Amino acid sequence: MTTLAIIGAGKGLGAAVARRFGREGFSVALISRHQGRLDALAAELEQDGVQAQGFTADVRDPASIAAALERATETLGPIEVLQYSPLPQKDFMRPVLETTPADLVGPVEFSIYGPVAAVHQVVPGMRFLPEGSRPSILFVNGGSAVKPGRNVTGTSIAFAGQKAYVDLLHEVLGEEDIYVGQLIIGGAIVAGDADKDPDVLADRIWQLHQKRDTLRDQVSED
Ligand SMILES: NC(=O)c1ccc[n+]([C@@H]2O[C@H](COP(=O)([O-])OP(=O)(O)OC[C@H]3O[C@@H](n4cnc5c(N)ncnc54)[C@H](OP(=O)(O)O)[C@@H]3O)[C@@H](O)[C@H]2O)c1
Repeated sequence: MTTLAIIGAGKGLGAAVARRFGREGFSVALISRHQGRLDALAAELEQDGVQAQGFTADVRDPASIAAALERATETLGPIEVLQYSPLPQKDFMRPVLETTPADLVGPVEFSIYGPVAAVHQVVPGMRFLPEGSRPSILFVNGGSAVKPGRNVTGTSIAFAGQKAYVDLLHEVLGEEDIYVGQLIIGGAIVAGDADKDPDVLADRIWQLHQKRDTLRDQVSED
């Protein structure tokens, strides 16, 4: 069995993606900052028949991401799929003229340094997965990744940098059959919504991983 690692795994999209991939036989490494929350989520997922375990890391601390991914691999098995989808801090989203250099440190650590640390940690192992494996690296963002918003400056700027990184990875890792893709979700994730329910979005992420031919999928433009 191989592993899906979700960096930024909470009760919303993270849990839905864990269930979707779990149904297909993946074990799931849940990575975020609080062990207690991760243990509770892993227990819920276990009740649904998904093998899951929590590993703490703060995406703003690259060494902690590398350590968590290493522990996940040792405990659950090689990582076939990585999803990077932590929920950005509210204070990253300030009006453009009120945004100082100091205000951009967090968003850049969160959306650029974190992904680079995660990718460096997982790619070497993805090159040695068993025959028939389908390695994927998947990123999830909000709409400001494609259309900057004047009142959400930190995420707009940092997501643009992450988008460029995703484009480059898609091209270069594609040459090794490691798929890199991105789901952009415009507006809020809403349970019960036809397009933006977590389970509907989780299925789109599963489709990205399966089809491997789309660089970027976007749900609603707002
Ligand atoms: N929620 C929305 O309405 C919405 C809208 C558009 C796009 N999105 C995208 O959807 C994804 C999130 O889905 P979701 O909102 O349903 O969230 P979720 O999967 O329920 O939880 C995301 C988790 O990210 C973790 N996180 C936040 N900061 C972190 C950090 N510094 N280091 C490690 N983990 C961190 C949080 O856990 P801890 O606090 O315990 O660390 C949180 O539980 C993100 O990619 C986001 O850009 C969300």
